[in-house]
Order: sequence, then structure tokens, then C-alpha cells
Amino acid sequence: MRLKRQASISRRDFFKGAGVVATSPLSLLGEAQSSPAGDGTPEQIHLSWGEDPAHAVFVSWVSAAQAVHPRVLLHRGRATRVVQAIQRTYTDGLNGQTVFTYHARLDDLTADTAYRYSVTADNDSLVQKPFAARFRTAPVGRRAFRWTSYGDLATPNTSWKLSSPQSGHAVDAVEQFKPLFHLLNGDLCYANLNWSAQPAVWADFGNNVQRSAAYRPWMPCPGNHEIEFCNGSQGFGSYLTRYSLPDNGTPFPGCWYRFQVGSALFISLSADDVIYQDSGAFHAGPEPYMPDASTGNAAIMPGTSLYIRGYSGGEQTRWLERTLAAARRDRSIDWIIVQMHQDALSSSKNGNGSDKGIREAWLPLFDRYGVDLVLCGHDHDYERSWPVRGCKRQVGRDAASGEPVDTLQPQPVLTRDPPDRRFDAMQGTIHLVLGGGGTSSPLDIYGVNPVSGLPQAKVITKPNRPKPGAIAGTFVKDGADALEDAIWSAKRDTVSGYGIGVFDLDPHLPGGKTSVTVRYFHAAGADRGPTSRYELFDSIVLIKDRRDLKGA
Ligand SMILES: [Fe+2]
Ligand SMILES: [Fe+2]
Repeated sequence: MRLKRQASISRRDFFKGAGVVATSPLSLLGEAQSSPAGDGTPEQIHLSWGEDPAHAVFVSWVSAAQAVHPRVLLHRGRATRVVQAIQRTYTDGLNGQTVFTYHARLDDLTADTAYRYSVTADNDSLVQKPFAARFRTAPVGRRAFRWTSYGDLATPNTSWKLSSPQSGHAVDAVEQFKPLFHLLNGDLCYANLNWSAQPAVWADFGNNVQRSAAYRPWMPCPGNHEIEFCNGSQGFGSYLTRYSLPDNGTPFPGCWYRFQVGSALFISLSADDVIYQDSGAFHAGPEPYMPDASTGNAAIMPGTSLYIRGYSGGEQTRWLERTLAAARRDRSIDWIIVQMHQDALSSSKNGNGSDKGIREAWLPLFDRYGVDLVLCGHDHDYERSWPVRGCKRQVGRDAASGEPVDTLQPQPVLTRDPPDRRFDAMQGTIHLVLGGGGTSSPLDIYGVNPVSGLPQAKVITKPNRPKPGAIAGTFVKDGADALEDAIWSAKRDTVSGYGIGVFDLDPHLPGGKTSVTVRYFHAAGADRGPTSRYELFDSIVLIKDRRDLKGA
């Protein structure tokens, strides 16, 4: 299935010169009337890497009304450079609110260098003393650096579905570890569960993360809760308007991308393109939902779900294979790290489980090109897999009938921690579920085979499209349809559904080796109430030969 991309929300079409009239005819009506005094004060300020993180950084923000002469002042030493921002807008397809976003691309930066910047506009209420922050560009070559990751963050405003005060502590946790950048692996704020107020949920998210994301890039991938009704063909209109991300050279800019920092290549994917699970925007009913009249959008009927499997028509998988093949020819790249939202290997019992779609489309590529780490969310817990390579056929079974089902069960290359917990990264790919950002819904109960007592996983092997529910006029979606023994599961956190992954790359070990130290800090007790304490729960080291040395 290939869905037609809606031209009106493509990122390129939204690129407009600073200060010009927004693309939507509703923009001036909707926002100018409801905002105080044409307020162009920047908020929701965040950074992202350009294609080359050593030399290019985007500064992005939102203002309540259209900004006049939006700009970034970039300072280094006594020199100041003024960079004009471009405007991108979208009008929310459900409540009709127009959102004004601004993006300044800071080019020609010096690698591994600290910069100060400020963000302002002529109608910024703080124009005399505008918002200011600092950031550091990425290093070039084999240099040590740290990144962090989690997904499923939500907002601290408990008025919104799935929001929780823990999402505030999660932002502080990133600052505690001071990474060069943070990977936010999908389900950013769950705006798509709050139909009358999606832009307000995004605003609470953006203002919560600003105290970290304005100081170090937060690099996202889209999750199922970025899929919104009436906001573009894939529902990513809000997400794509708000973020400036490295170009992927395909008709789907921003959906997936790559960037290199030091000796590591980072690949961010849009797994909704390949998964079987139907978990985007969904209307259960029983009454039709009527978008605001200003949008002109038709009623959303009960049983409607925005299911986007196959949306790129294979474009993403072809890009992934090209990208991986090029990385393996490039001797400056020792490590390949993938982030995506949904899971190929998750054994959460009260969550979603594993998706066969990822196993079919991408795990063979991860095997062929030696991807080292896959960082996911979606299930709100922590789980680490053993290194896996290949799969075993026909060993799953249907959850209802018990009949055999081919789940493509991933095969662990070892099932015991090696001495000193130092893994040879060449042996297999390790998957981490890091879905413990800050939602109100921890999912840290895990499947157990009732006969063997060993880990068991739910697997989604076919589309779970809406079907009529027990109450007249309502619709429901089934959970995972199959089960398998989770022989690949190495560690599961039953204490807390919340935490943060911390990754330290060391490019120079004795003997021409390089390592990535993986640590997971969890927020013990957060399942019962918010906490600012993050404690070490799991730690391993991945080791491999550097690829630039002779014979490597
Ligand atoms: Fe989630
Ligand atoms: Fe999710």
C-alpha cells in the first residue's frame, strides 16, 4: 500500500522566508485573534543536528503569533553572526489552531566547539534580553563522546492523557548526564490522544524539554503517537513542521535520517512504515468526532484508524540498505546505532510486544551489515536482548488457538553474560527497549512461559485493524496475535518502568579496539509516584576492532 503524500504539509512546502504570510489562509485569522498582542516571543526552543553535526546545527522554536524578523544571534568570542530563521506553519486539522514555527540553520561551525546563541524577533516581548543558551558542536574523527536515549516522554501537565510529572524528572535526568546529544525514540507527547488540544500538548512538551533541548540536540524519531488525524497523509504534519532534521534525499524528508558523530553512524527510522500493528490515531466511537468547522474537515467516523504501514512504498528500506552498505565501506565508521520507536524484541506482557514487520523488513539488514545497537521505546519499560543473528522459523504459536505461527524468532549468539560483561560487538545486534521516558502508563510486567517459567513474548504477526466492539457503535483493536519463547531476552526491569540509557563511546582502547559502554539508570519507585532519583540498573560494554587500522 502506498499512500499519497499530502503536498500541503510537506516540509519543503512550508519553507517560507522570514516574516512572510503563513501558507494557511487560516493562519492570520486563527492565531492573530487569539494571541496576546501579536506575541512573537520564542518558546519551545530546541536544537537538532544538521547533516554534519560537527559543522551544522538547527535552532527551532514556536511563537504564539507570527514572528517579525525571527532570528538567531550566534556568538563566539566577541563575534556575533545574525542568522535569519525561516517560518513553517501548519493548521491543526482537528481544532483549527495555526502553529508558527521558526528554524535557523547555523552553518560553517567549527567542530567540537562551544557556541552561545540567543533567539529573538522584532515582536519578542523579551527583545531587550532575549532567551540565550549555549551548545557544543560534535567532534570529528575518533573522539570520545556520550549520548543518552529514551522514548515515550509525554508532558508534566496531567490534564493531558498519558502525561505525568515524571516527564519533568526525565528531562532533568538528561541534564544530569550532560550528553553531547539525546535520542528521543518516539511517542514524544501523545498529543494524538487529546484531539481538541493537540497543539497545546505539543507546547507543554516543547516547553518542558527546552531546558535541555536548547542546550544539546534532541534527535527524535516518529512513534505511533505522532500520527494525528487530519494532519497530513501519514499524520506527521505537526511533528515534521516542528523539527528540522538531516535530509534523507527522498520524498519523505524528516521521517528518517542519518548523521555521523565521531566514529559512530546514527540511523533514525520510522518503524510505522513496516510494522503490522495498527496503533496510530484511532476513533473507537460510538459518536462521530467533528473537527472544528474552520478546518473544513469531515466528521471522523467510529472505527477510523490512520494505519500507515507501507507508506513509503519501500523507499525507507531501500534508503536503509544503501546507508548501511555505504557505512560498511567507510572506514571512519566503527559503530552503527539505530533508533526507532517500535520493537522487534520486546517481551512486555501488558504492553505491545514484538512486531514481526520489523523482523521481516529490517533485521536481515541489521545482520548483513552488522548493526551494533538498536534503541527503541513503545513498551514503557526496560529490556535488553542478547546479541542476536538470524532467526528460527515456525516456533511461535497463535495466542488464541495454539496453532503454529512463524514469528521469525531471533536467535541469540550467547545466553550468558561474558566475563566483565564485555560483549564482542561483532557477534550480534543488541536491542534495547528504553520506553521509560515519563508517561503515566508503565508497562514493566513481562511475559513468562507458564510451563518452563522462562521469558515469553507476545508477537504481532498481522494487522490488528479495528473491529466492532461489545458496545453498539464502538470499535476495538486486538492485541498481539502470537506468542514465542523470548530466548533472546537477557534482562528485564521489573522494578520500574522508567529510566534513561547512557552511552559512552571510547574510540581508543589498547590493541586497536574501541568500546561503547551502555548503562541504564532507572527511576526506582516511579511506577507509584514521580521521583528525581535515577540509579544504575544495568551495565554492559561492547567491544570491537577499530576499522581504520590495517587488517581491521
Ligand atoms: Fe508510548
Ligand atoms: Fe508507542
